[in-house]
Amino acid sequence: MSLENLSVLLVILSFLVVCKSLGNFHYYDFVLKETNFTKLCSTNTILTVNDSFPGPTIRVQKGDTAVVTVHNHGRYGITIHWHGVREPRDPWSDGPENITQCPIQPGTNFTQKVAFTLEEGTLWWHAHSGGTRATVHGAIVILPAGGTSYPFPEPYGQHTIIIGEWYKRDMMQILHSALATGGEPSVSDAYTINGQPGDFYDCSKEATYRFLVDYGKTYLFRIINAAMNEELFFGISNHNLTIVGIDGSYTKPLNTNFIMIIPGQTMDVLVSTNQPKGLYYVAASAFYDGNAMYNNSTTTAILHYSGSYTPPTSSIPMPMLPAVNSSGTVFNFIKSLRGLASQDHPANVPVNVTRKIYITVSMNELPCQNSKGSCSGPNGTRLASSLSNISFQIPQIDILQAYYWNISGVFTEDFPDQPPFFYNFTGDTGSNTLIPSTGTRALIFYYNEVVELMWQGTSVLTAENHAMHLHGFSFFVVGVGTGNFNNVTDPKSYNLIDPPEVNTFALPKNGWVAMRFVANNPGVWYMHCHLERHTSWGMDTVLIVRDGGTTETSMVPPPEYMPPCS
Ligand code: C2O
Ligand code: CU
Repeated sequence: MSLENLSVLLVILSFLVVCKSLGNFHYYDFVLKETNFTKLCSTNTILTVNDSFPGPTIRVQKGDTAVVTVHNHGRYGITIHWHGVREPRDPWSDGPENITQCPIQPGTNFTQKVAFTLEEGTLWWHAHSGGTRATVHGAIVILPAGGTSYPFPEPYGQHTIIIGEWYKRDMMQILHSALATGGEPSVSDAYTINGQPGDFYDCSKEATYRFLVDYGKTYLFRIINAAMNEELFFGISNHNLTIVGIDGSYTKPLNTNFIMIIPGQTMDVLVSTNQPKGLYYVAASAFYDGNAMYNNSTTTAILHYSGSYTPPTSSIPMPMLPAVNSSGTVFNFIKSLRGLASQDHPANVPVNVTRKIYITVSMNELPCQNSKGSCSGPNGTRLASSLSNISFQIPQIDILQAYYWNISGVFTEDFPDQPPFFYNFTGDTGSNTLIPSTGTRALIFYYNEVVELMWQGTSVLTAENHAMHLHGFSFFVVGVGTGNFNNVTDPKSYNLIDPPEVNTFALPKNGWVAMRFVANNPGVWYMHCHLERHTSWGMDTVLIVRDGGTTETSMVPPPEYMPPCS
């Protein structure tokens, strides 16, 4: 081969390498429409994507981009969010309603670009408009990039498990009336596994979901908690679970016979089919140790060994899940999660923190405002929630647009020129109050600030667990504890070696979580509790990361079309 030919070949080869690292594009059409489903002996019309509940799976490799066009054939405006996808520099595609975009109105469509850059494992997508996420959600499976593989032996098979909820009544109605009365929203009528309630609910036995498995193999189960308000225990009878990933990031293998998974969270677990051939229940039920109403039923699916064998005569065994209020067991479980922190998947835990933020997370009450003058919350008030004593008010037009185009009057900025060590939101350095203030505030960050953010649960009205979630980033959970955070002693026990890297994390009742991330994703990013009722009551805020001064460190310009704000 001549030298010329060789160099041509090299150019072609390097081009191929570049193409590979740029990843592939996958195009999806999501058609939102009302679809009838009959479950629990009655028929309900629910909003779906492409007629399915749960909705379609997005399956990509790391480095790929999904381009999703959402066609709204439903009755009201809606938005779709890619939960846990970083969306580098591109908050325009993130989706939360009136935070980064206005709703996609019926009869219109909107195309979102979902770039998978750092994530690998399982994430999910869901509607981000009021109660609609109850039925509008689906899995995102991100396989290792070409030429790479899992940090564990290639599983023989894979299954996706979406744990959801079924409401016999219209979810939008339920949420509306809860907000109007100021009381709690009604709980679901069933939990579901891949859309099916399972053997222990009325009229459900025929349709119970079955996971067909071969004997003597290892399977990867990708588990998603898509429930509205419930943290859940999950297990498979007689089978051990090995957690190998959370929230699209690998973990050190953790052996357990149950998991506790909170709304928004995803967990990848390996299961060895090493038990006598037969049928085994896969089950999920609530973990709850607060005072609100919760659904205390159990959803089941069946792990079904394939092949011909004499079926066992005894009944199908149920997994032993912890009791509903097992806070201690759950705390130990949360504490034992570790990031993989290997050579191929290093944990780049930020060390030189430049900004510390302390946020209290509370349940509250607000004066009743309905026409009757009396609400269903405590003492005739309406239920509320807050972050650092501010109950967040969703604005009429989206914050991203207001920020980008300098539209005033939409939100107020919290931006101290001299970052103090423990910075609360402006004006709220005092004690926690039963009645919070209301407002639409955004925490402003310079590009590349190294942030330590501490969530402190309180018992202002009642103490509860929360499912703290941040858009636009994954973060390292460097510490988690019960009681009040001690800023002298607690940082000494931080895990800076192999903390889990997540986008959603359980804040224990009256406890704290300390997390770190680098503010290197310019944009407008929503932060909220993933329990829907808490979000809707104001347990949310927005982080704005300013541009860094160059094109590569700045937000991309908006796409040609964004849904208009009416
Ligand atoms: Cu699943 Cu705003 O999140
Ligand atoms: Cu909460």
